[in-house]
Amino acid sequence: MFAIVSFAFALLSLPLAHAQTYSATYAPSSLPDQTEEGQSGTNKCGTTNHQDSMCQNIYINSVDDFCFYASPQPGANSTIGDTERIEVSWCLKDGYGTRTIPPNTISGAHFVQTPDYVQVTGTGNLTQVNIPAGDAGGELDPHGADGNGNPIGGLVFSNAFTGQYVQVHEWTNYMSDTQFCFRACKDGPDAPALCQHIYDEMGCAWNMPANYDSGTFERCGGDSGEPMGVYGTSTFHQGDPSTPSPHSAPSSSACTTVPSVGLASMSGSSAPTSAGASSASATSKATSGSTGSAPSATSGSHTSSTSELASMNWVLQGFAIVMTVLGGIWVVV
Ligand SMILES: *[C@@H]1O[C@H](CO)[C@@H](O)[C@H](O)[C@H]1NC(C)=O
Ligand SMILES: *[C@@H]1O[C@H](CO)[C@@H](O)[C@H](O)[C@H]1NC(C)=O
Repeated sequence: MFAIVSFAFALLSLPLAHAQTYSATYAPSSLPDQTEEGQSGTNKCGTTNHQDSMCQNIYINSVDDFCFYASPQPGANSTIGDTERIEVSWCLKDGYGTRTIPPNTISGAHFVQTPDYVQVTGTGNLTQVNIPAGDAGGELDPHGADGNGNPIGGLVFSNAFTGQYVQVHEWTNYMSDTQFCFRACKDGPDAPALCQHIYDEMGCAWNMPANYDSGTFERCGGDSGEPMGVYGTSTFHQGDPSTPSPHSAPSSSACTTVPSVGLASMSGSSAPTSAGASSASATSKATSGSTGSAPSATSGSHTSSTSELASMNWVLQGFAIVMTVLGGIWVVV
């Protein structure tokens, strides 16, 4: 009886939770100063990056055009866990009014676009974005304990899906001193599960199985992964006696690489790095032109592969439903 009542309650509360989560949708071109109660930073960021920016807007567009969250100040007490409510945005590119990820911070980055999300995974010396050495990390998402985000007021945008910026309402970002991963899920019924945020102690590799190799900077199409923590009909919860292995990394395809990402070192201390960086930005200029319309040129090659992947996904989902039904019949017999 209790189960039935609580199930009915869960059904009733679902649309409410949705309405609350998606109650506001913003465009990068017209953002207010702040979007959530208790916000330490801002969403009205201008277009000039500076290293004391308190901007909390994230853009996940491509392998050479992404941002992540980290602490506004350095120090032993700036672990992700300690500063999750006040993180600020650090971006590879200038132009968003955020902080700039310093040159030579990122040593490997893997951008993948699937039918349901965009994701970037990689490695780096993230002490350069104020994460204390030895910080095993933490998780950021738009659902803090009080319903505001971690960070409070964080907004995430991508132009990878349509060529135009859309706000992404479901996202999850893990940061440690050496590794990062960020998944931004396209609005839709699967978004909360594919951007699940409750496994905050499990880290990047378990939540977002993918390529984390250093030395490679690539952009790929890919299949959507399985929802975090869901294994057939059973769902793992942190603290359960045994922890299941991560899902295997979904396959990716149609990868293109760039030599490096991020701004060239201002000091020009390292010839290979600045050469790499300038050819990377030349690549992005050639394929983009100006901000906003940028990815529409590059996404052309993706569109066919992702739509093929999408129809493949439908076939697989149909197959999964048939198998589930057959499994149900088998159990009853
Ligand atoms: C850092 O946190 C510790 C433990 O909470 C505290 O004792 C210490 O004073 C803090 N240090 C700074 C610089 O805030
Ligand atoms: C990371 O960067 C800091 C600051 O530039 C440097 O002192 C440190 O040696 C670097 N760590 C590694 C592992 O390269």
